[in-house]
Amino acid sequence: MSNEPDFRLDGRTAIVTGAASGIGRAIAQGIASSGASVAAFDLSGPGLDETVARINDSGGRAIAVPGDVTDAASLGDAVAQTQRDLGPLSLAVNAAGIANAAPAEEMALEQWQRVVDVDYTGVFLSCQAEGRAMLANGRGSIVNIASMSGSIVNRGLLQVHYNSAKAAVIHLGKSLAMEWSDRGVRVNTISPGYTATPMNTRPEVADQVRQFEQDTPLGRMATVQEMVGPAVFLLSDASAFVTGVDLLVDGGFVCW
Ligand SMILES: NC(=O)c1ccc[n+]([C@@H]2O[C@H](COP(=O)([O-])OP(=O)(O)OC[C@H]3O[C@@H](n4cnc5c(N)ncnc54)[C@H](O)[C@@H]3O)[C@@H](O)[C@H]2O)c1
Repeated sequence: MSNEPDFRLDGRTAIVTGAASGIGRAIAQGIASSGASVAAFDLSGPGLDETVARINDSGGRAIAVPGDVTDAASLGDAVAQTQRDLGPLSLAVNAAGIANAAPAEEMALEQWQRVVDVDYTGVFLSCQAEGRAMLANGRGSIVNIASMSGSIVNRGLLQVHYNSAKAAVIHLGKSLAMEWSDRGVRVNTISPGYTATPMNTRPEVADQVRQFEQDTPLGRMATVQEMVGPAVFLLSDASAFVTGVDLLVDGGFVCW
């Protein structure tokens, strides 16, 4: 057996949710550069088409599979189309998510429910659709994108729904990893710290971002590209003995 770690994903088929923007888009591009064919899943729109164009224009292979992570049928259809067009599914990254804020004592049930539906139930439904295919194929690696907000509470951010949903996603990953451990499917989590996505680079949040940067031991936000290496590691055979972990990619934030 070679001692050289195998980070390549050649010949594999992946689905990435939340692929139209931010972290999901960067990971979709990184997976394609690492050799896999990619089905980009997101709400339909120009962002999704842009991700697919970027991958195909740079010599990779991608298709758009539009859908909504709160809709089990659209996830099932997307997995079926992915396998029809690209081959047996063995890789998945679930990055679709939303965030908003309100004081807990004033939060409307609808606001709570929407974040839980997308950020928590949406990850479960994605894993379920992907897992069904991977268990049938006898092989798979799933990476869910949670957040450091699943381990710590962000000072000054009123997002009890988001923090709770992200903590649930971390334990969801461990639970699925144990259910599927003897059937060839690994499940792991990445928990990003503050990351420079469109949400965090608007001029009106500049003061808040300066605070985020001061609070992060590495002194800055992550770039979306800095999520790619950890994701490719957890998807690839380089991490063949890793399942059920929550990999914090937070510039050291939770140590302080
Ligand atoms: N940006 C950060 O600082 C940060 C930090 C920690 C964790 N995260 C997590 O990383 C993930 C990606 O976040 P991002 O910052 O790239 O955000 P983003 O808004 O740039 O991308 C999120 C994507 O999810 C898609 N999406 C939302 N609801 C959907 C639905 N119902 N069905 C299908 N797709 C849907 C959006 O259309 C969008 O393309 C999220 O889960 C987020 O919670 C982000």
